Amino acid sequence: MAGRSSGPWDANDIAGIRAHFAAYRNARYEAGPIAFLDGAGGTQTPDMVVGAVKGYLEDSNANIDGAFPTSVETDELIETAREVGADFLGSRSEEIVLGANTTTLNFLLTRAFARTMSPGEEILVTCLDHDANISPWLAAARDFGLEVRFAPLRLEDGTLDLDAAQGMVGPKTRVISFPLASNTTGTIVDPGPMVELARQVGAITWADGVHYACHRLVDREAIGLDVVLTSPYKYCGPHMGVAAIRSDLAGSLPAERVRPADETPVGHRFETGTQNHEALAGFVASAEYFASLPGVGGTSRREQLGEAFDRIREHEQLLGQRALNQLQDVEDIVIYGISDPERIAERTATIAFTHEKLTQREVATRMAGAGIYVNDGDHYGLETMRAYGLESSGGMIRASFVHYNDEDDVDRLVEAIVEL
Ligand SMILES: Cc1ncc(COP(=O)(O)O)c(C=O)c1O
Repeated sequence: MAGRSSGPWDANDIAGIRAHFAAYRNARYEAGPIAFLDGAGGTQTPDMVVGAVKGYLEDSNANIDGAFPTSVETDELIETAREVGADFLGSRSEEIVLGANTTTLNFLLTRAFARTMSPGEEILVTCLDHDANISPWLAAARDFGLEVRFAPLRLEDGTLDLDAAQGMVGPKTRVISFPLASNTTGTIVDPGPMVELARQVGAITWADGVHYACHRLVDREAIGLDVVLTSPYKYCGPHMGVAAIRSDLAGSLPAERVRPADETPVGHRFETGTQNHEALAGFVASAEYFASLPGVGGTSRREQLGEAFDRIREHEQLLGQRALNQLQDVEDIVIYGISDPERIAERTATIAFTHEKLTQREVATRMAGAGIYVNDGDHYGLETMRAYGLESSGGMIRASFVHYNDEDDVDRLVEAIVEL
């Protein structure tokens, strides 16, 4: 196996990071160490987050708008959750929409935007998207007479074909929708050209930041995105969704509200009913977790998150390069997306591959038996699977490394594949 490479964290740091997670000390783990390689499906949850969820239910459980202390605390918690959402997404707190998950938020928000569109107008999506950023547009197109166009992939490296995308937009294009990173191939989409394309035709940009948010800090405002959606359970938080929508856009879209609810032209117009308060408490704590990572300083929460994600990127890039370097020499394995370790900056350490002699489920099952938790299937990246002709053959195996993984996880994965 390759030698150790120096990154932002040494073995002690990784041990300290893992000490935050019950998953690394529970009976299942004790029975045989597990390589948790399905971060792209959902990360493990740090104790701070678990404690905050429990703490809220035990100490502050209430509904909003009351005069009594637990209700006042709940109002404050929601405001804090918005501020935390703003710091994670590079937005302002009034632009944050809290919800059940990204898919639900996206059905809601796409529908609100579609109501401002006229029949025949167009939405550009991409073949790198998770279906949570495609089906909502298809449903809107069906109901409002719109057209959805699909920007294709360059199959050789799993990047978007920007020339083809350019040829697919025009005066009728109202939305350019794309992922900041693919949850199957790990390809990072440079948002600059997409924002520029949108600017040229007067469209808005709509980004699925779900996979990206575990690996890089989103900056909605700096990138110039109009809408971005993420799911905190993919970045060490609880199961919920958080979107940011540019405030003037949020204010201009139709929102369904119950009559007694206050009507303000900001993101929370799209929140209906009672929020998952305990999840919000966990979400707030997830920012504290990232701020506690080794070497992280900074005075504001946003600065701390920036420093945390700088280190995360550096650490994960070493893991990704190590995995790509070794997997390239393994027989019977086909890697999809960017496989050149030198191009690691253009992808996350989420690596998708197929085995040429075994079904993908067989591989994943044998891996599970060896304590290596990789996922297999289409990962809801239906268009990506179609592009590679893998829709009906079991999809791809996906090994996704996050910041609590280490070089041993990489080596165990590679050794297990070699032994198949
Ligand atoms: C890139 C991407 N987008 C959207 C989603 C959907 O998120 P949620 O489960 O919060 O609806 C996922 C979930 O796997 C994802 O990976």
